[in-house]
Amino acid sequence: MKERSKKPWVKIRRILIVAILLGVVLAMAVYFIWLKDYQKEALLKVGYNETTIETLRAQLPDADEEAQIEELLLLPYQADLDSFLKHPDFRPENLLKYLNYISDLDHYRVSAIVYLVNQGISQPYSDLLAALISQPYFVPARLERYLVYDNSKAPAVIIQEVNCNLDRPYYEDPQPVDLAKDNLLLVNKYCYFDSEYAPENLVAIAAEYDNNTGDKVRPEVYEAFKTMADAAANEGLALGNNSAYRSYETQQKLYERYLVTNGKEYAEEFSARAGFSEHQAGLALDLGVPTGAVVGKFEDTAEFAWLEQNAHHFGFILRYPAGKEHLTGYHYEPWHYRYVGLEVAEYIHEHKLTLEEYYAVFIEGQ
Ligand code: DAL
Ligand code: ZN
Repeated sequence: MKERSKKPWVKIRRILIVAILLGVVLAMAVYFIWLKDYQKEALLKVGYNETTIETLRAQLPDADEEAQIEELLLLPYQADLDSFLKHPDFRPENLLKYLNYISDLDHYRVSAIVYLVNQGISQPYSDLLAALISQPYFVPARLERYLVYDNSKAPAVIIQEVNCNLDRPYYEDPQPVDLAKDNLLLVNKYCYFDSEYAPENLVAIAAEYDNNTGDKVRPEVYEAFKTMADAAANEGLALGNNSAYRSYETQQKLYERYLVTNGKEYAEEFSARAGFSEHQAGLALDLGVPTGAVVGKFEDTAEFAWLEQNAHHFGFILRYPAGKEHLTGYHYEPWHYRYVGLEVAEYIHEHKLTLEEYYAVFIEGQ
């Protein structure tokens, strides 16, 4: 009897629980639908159209949607909202940051804002800033330096010169060469090698490729040089090494000889100080014709004309070109070739860059 009398209660209890649960689910559904509708109503009221609201909801992750829309509703109507949402680099977490450039919307293009915010740049608007960020070799990490550099120069020139560190005096607070960059390392009047530094595994250049120096060079440079010299030989041209790896001490003697013979200005233009030479990297070759022709005349030879057309196909660049002396810090040296590998040499040649310019954009910070 007891058992039987209990059963209706159990049933009722179950029904009640199910009913309560259903009620909660229903209430939640109504609440969320109401909330969504409330937000939609509010967005429509501010001036956004149905399509923009749909795009907005589609772009925001579900978890953030309501909170982001609430914040959006605190701002006045954003005529550019749609353009931001549809920008290929749009990042939902940055939505409000894009819109906080509101006072600058007259000046900025949507793409510029998306770029600046995505890069974490919070500089106030200036025409210079807008011009700088649209330059092909703009490096975000150098922005502060571009902005305080000589602004009478064109934005492209500011970028080029600051990328080459011309906003800093030569030899003042130089940085150690970043050896991890290997074949792409940069050594110049801002970056130095320790006096003890020498590359490992230097190999001797065979007599047929050498103008009686007995010099050594890095193995990969040697292989590329032999291939290049053989290709030149096939066209009846003779390329030989006049100077390859030079130790710190050798460079010191060389620089001092220039100093004594030609004076400081000339020495600084033609010779690196000890520790600051690419020859210490084992990646550079001074080339000449085997007769030991005066290097100053090398640019008049058929060999030089051939190198101009072909060196990059073998991974070499003319390191100190004419017209770029202010960027490299050295006088034009038609004989000095630097190995950087095929891909980089092709790029540098095609875009007429110096290694300084290429390094700032593509190597440093990678
Ligand atoms: N002549 C080049 C700049 C050097 O001394 O390394
Ligand atoms: Zn050289």
